[in-house]
Amino acid sequence: HIGLFWSLPWFLVLSGPLSCAEELPVAPQQPVQRESPLLRPKVLITIIARNAQHSLPYFLGCIDRLEYPKDRIAIWAASDHNVDNTSAVLQQWLRGVQQLYHSVEWRPAEEPSFTLSTGLKHWPKSRFIQVMKLKQAALRAARRLWADYILFVDCDNLLTHRRLLTDLMAENLTLVAPMLESRTLYSNFWCGMTPQGYYRRTPEYVPIRKWKRQGCFAVPMVHSTFLMDLRRSASQALAFYPPHPEYPHHLDDIMAFAFSAQQAEVQMYVCNKEHYGYLPLPLKQHQTLEEEEESFTHTLTEALIDYTMEPSQYVHHTAKQLGKMGFDEIFLINLKRRLDRRERMMSTLAALGIDVTLTEAVDGKALNSSQLLAMGIDMLPGYKDPYSGRVLTRGEIGCFLSHYNIWKQELQQVLVLEDDVRFEPRFRSRLTATMDDVKRTGLDWDLIYVGRKRLQVTEPESWVKGVSNLVHPDYSYWTLGYVLSLQGAKRLIEAEPLSKMLPVDEFLPIMFNKHPKDEYMHYFKQRDLRAFSVEPLLLFPTHYTGEPGYFSDTETSTIWDDETVATDWDRDNAKRRRKQERESGVEARPVTPRPAHSNVPSFLPSGNRDEL
Ligand SMILES: *[C@@H]1O[C@H](CO)[C@@H](O)[C@H](O)[C@H]1NC(C)=O
Ligand SMILES: *[C@@H]1O[C@H](CO)[C@@H](O)[C@H](O)[C@H]1NC(C)=O
Ligand SMILES: *[C@@H]1O[C@H](CO)[C@@H](O)[C@H](O)[C@H]1NC(C)=O
Repeated sequence: HIGLFWSLPWFLVLSGPLSCAEELPVAPQQPVQRESPLLRPKVLITIIARNAQHSLPYFLGCIDRLEYPKDRIAIWAASDHNVDNTSAVLQQWLRGVQQLYHSVEWRPAEEPSFTLSTGLKHWPKSRFIQVMKLKQAALRAARRLWADYILFVDCDNLLTHRRLLTDLMAENLTLVAPMLESRTLYSNFWCGMTPQGYYRRTPEYVPIRKWKRQGCFAVPMVHSTFLMDLRRSASQALAFYPPHPEYPHHLDDIMAFAFSAQQAEVQMYVCNKEHYGYLPLPLKQHQTLEEEEESFTHTLTEALIDYTMEPSQYVHHTAKQLGKMGFDEIFLINLKRRLDRRERMMSTLAALGIDVTLTEAVDGKALNSSQLLAMGIDMLPGYKDPYSGRVLTRGEIGCFLSHYNIWKQELQQVLVLEDDVRFEPRFRSRLTATMDDVKRTGLDWDLIYVGRKRLQVTEPESWVKGVSNLVHPDYSYWTLGYVLSLQGAKRLIEAEPLSKMLPVDEFLPIMFNKHPKDEYMHYFKQRDLRAFSVEPLLLFPTHYTGEPGYFSDTETSTIWDDETVATDWDRDNAKRRRKQERESGVEARPVTPRPAHSNVPSFLPSGNRDEL
């Protein structure tokens, strides 16, 4: 329309404000353009890493997967005082992603400002000051960029919820943390504080931590991962360093920051509307980098129960060296059609550094009566499931045969694992230590349970003398994991269990003479299997019967001697599950249960915390 403009008489152009509609000849009406959507707020993500080579690839994988436009994110990264390859890994990632993000800033290490001579987990005052200064520098960088938000996140926190940033922003709060879970009640918020500024457990804490109450809650402390809205005027007063002039406590970055929030009258919030991610337990001062790595590995395996946790594609990640833990073989029993479980277990075992041999489970559902007959399989006369009163299912037959096939291989020493297990912290080193003890004491053993369900709980089980963490097991269910010797395998086979079959986890207690039903026991003459159990147990099921997410391959099946009758033995569980989900408002998201015995550590005062 330039042509039109220049063709107007010059006095019209110069004669002051005009109403276009009235005085100018206008081209035919164009449709009015709609306004475009707003760009997303600008966020700076702070990554401060130290000796985090083990966690960085997974941590960065989570950052990669966040569903938020990367061109609206700036990265601010710093690393120092490393004894490992952290700095190189982080820089490699920054180089790989810098084109994707709005900007990346790398703050090179300064001269060491403190020495690590007293231990990697030791936190002298100078170390706190160093962290506080780094966080303050990140905050300054965010303000300089005029970022709308800054996300602080410790680089061993695994942010599994991809819409985390969007969700937290929607809360419209100045300081808000996504509640992160650990294997205990530990999390990244406090509900109470002592006058000295330390953690205090209050009655509100547990219901929030366990998602009994869901929402966003005003709390006196959030740490590790939280989002700050820099557009709020009060946020201008928030600082890590220098601490507020009236700051009365022991120097500590999270306490100094919480104090500055109090002084600025900014409320901290924690939100648990979703499952946002995981964090490891804080370490104690005397613990080593190896222990920290083991602790992180456990956090990773917990996250793997419900998420796939690939390391970032932008960093070089060397897979852990796999080992057999001194066994001839470690077998993983998996049904071919349960690909989900197989993949989860394979990545979990890779994270733990355990070399397994996959053995395909016998699919009971695919067996028909004539095949059962040909294999000489018959049910133990009078066997009935104690809960439902049903007879043996095809799934249970398949499960029995899967174990039986391993026993037949006659290896010196094997570890047998099922595919629906979760590993306790330090699984490898704890089981290895017990097996070393067993060897050292010359204990004569056939089978050692690693995970089971104790059914007799009124009487304590007796400890095995001279071996730490080993008991004489009483009546138990489940075959989640056990160690079997050649001698043990022979005894199980010699009992000829196929011709008088009952579920494998009922068969084992018969073999060590601890089954409460004599009418089952008398079918087996030799019941002197030398069975033991690690204590505390090192394996638990990923999901319990009736819990959301629970699905059993052995209990949902058809009756073995009449394939025309379809049954669903899990029906009651399914009903209860749906009801629970309705009541809790949780849909289909498996809430992972904690082992009942899981000991809750007392909360550590700040000197023991580990932020980096
Ligand atoms: C350190 O990390 C860099 C980048 O990820 C990698 O190229 C290098 O091989 C690593 N060095 C060691 C000793 O792990
Ligand atoms: C967020 O909070 C501000 C100030 O408290 C308020 O003006 C604004 O309307 C809120 N936005 C939303 C989406 O609730
Ligand atoms: C049972 O399965 C086998 C192998 O799949 C098959 O050959 C046989 O015909 C089946 N028998 C019956 C009665 O269905």
